[in-house]
Amino acid sequence: MSVALLENAPIACIILAAGKGSRMLSDLPKVMHQIANRSMIDHVLHNVAEFAPQHQAVIVAPTMTDLQKKLAPVPTFIQEQQLGTGDAAKAARPLLQDFQGDVLILFGDTPFISKETLSHMIAARRSTENCAVTVLGFRPADKKKYARLVMGDQGLHEIVEFADASDDIKQLDLCNSGVMCIDGTKLFLLLDQIDCQNAQGEYYLTDIVKLARAAGHICNIVEAPEEELMGINSRQELAEGERYIQHKLRTRAMAQGATLIAPETVFFSMDTILGKDVIIHPHVVFGPKVHVADHVEIKSFSHLEETHIDTQAVIGPYARLRPGTKIGPKAKIGNFVETKNVTIEEGAKVNHLSYVGDGHIGTKANIGAGTIFCNYDGYNKAKTEIGAHAFIGSNSALVAPTRIGAHAIVAAGSIITKTVPENALALARGKQVNKENLATEINRRNQAKKQANSSK
Ligand code: UD1
Ligand code: MG
Repeated sequence: MSVALLENAPIACIILAAGKGSRMLSDLPKVMHQIANRSMIDHVLHNVAEFAPQHQAVIVAPTMTDLQKKLAPVPTFIQEQQLGTGDAAKAARPLLQDFQGDVLILFGDTPFISKETLSHMIAARRSTENCAVTVLGFRPADKKKYARLVMGDQGLHEIVEFADASDDIKQLDLCNSGVMCIDGTKLFLLLDQIDCQNAQGEYYLTDIVKLARAAGHICNIVEAPEEELMGINSRQELAEGERYIQHKLRTRAMAQGATLIAPETVFFSMDTILGKDVIIHPHVVFGPKVHVADHVEIKSFSHLEETHIDTQAVIGPYARLRPGTKIGPKAKIGNFVETKNVTIEEGAKVNHLSYVGDGHIGTKANIGAGTIFCNYDGYNKAKTEIGAHAFIGSNSALVAPTRIGAHAIVAAGSIITKTVPENALALARGKQVNKENLATEINRRNQAKKQANSSK
């Protein structure tokens, strides 16, 4: 649809999210459950943001104060009792009663709808004369308990909920996604006429179709692919949604020039950013806010969150990069290394079995195997600074706050509690003493003791 057409008549969105979500068996509101590390409601809000709607309203239940806080500044409206989707939409009346444009009604539990599909709906509603409601339909392989769309001579005749459907109607292939585009000037007139005389005793938004027709208007439909319209009502469906979106994210990563050796084993977040010629080995998990520059290699079994990795760095296998990690160009993070809130400059190496948290590691510094930044005293965190080209010997404990100067060496096994100046060698361990031939004597003594015990 042309931008001009969108500009000419404004759009508002009502997103229904007040439902109990009882099939999730969860203390969390259903729409706060996450898919690819983004809540379902955020998926919907991202999709509608493409239209820059003039108004948007999320309908929530009175108990969902955490959700309201998370959504702010997006306006939320409370549906006092969960009496059905038709009742829920009415909660937006204070915002939209004088609204003249198109109102999209979306469900917080139908997170994957594309902007193309929404554009088609708006176009279909606007371009059909006297059309009050455009409904989004689909033909799923498994029709489950979706309502069925009954077509007539003049477009959509009515929507029949599964609980109210006869066997004949249940045979119909065309199902209701729940999403609608409604002429804003008629919305509340129609909503006010919905009653609850049905199998579930609920106010069905879907009744708006027969009410619009009774008022002399036309209703029509737009169809969209099944994947976009899956409704998430149970943990099983949440997992199906995750599978669908991960497939899309993997396909997108490869299309943008990343190599995924075993794509089905790599898990992304919605906001993962990958450069080109990134190589991702099997079994890597990207938590939220990970940005990977070009030519980075991430080896198997690595887990990354809120991390920025610069070009040509090599990560893993078995690396755990936690929030606030910044890896410089050509740096190396090896196996069983955990990082957190640390900047690791160009060419620096942390190759084996280390914890580096709350620190800064200078260019080309080398952190030996088993080094620990002791950053926490049980109450407070403190910082460890390591200068460029410094060498930290294996199995050292650096007790923060501390600073190791550029080009300094820390001897293996040291426990560093004081600043190490530039170019210095720091030794902080027991001194070695050798006693000539004493091992032979000890062995002889122990062997004699063993013989004496066994002959008793
Ligand atoms: C709904 C549709 C059905 C469609 C299906 C598609 C109705 C009556 N039924 O059924 O036609 O095939 O979606 O997935 O519209 N909600 C409220 N307040 C309420 C009840 C629900 O805000 O009182 C919200 C829920 O949070 C959810 C959405 O509305 O986001 C849909 O509710 P849900 O109970 O999942 O409806 P379905 O049975 O899936
Ligand atoms: Mg549903």
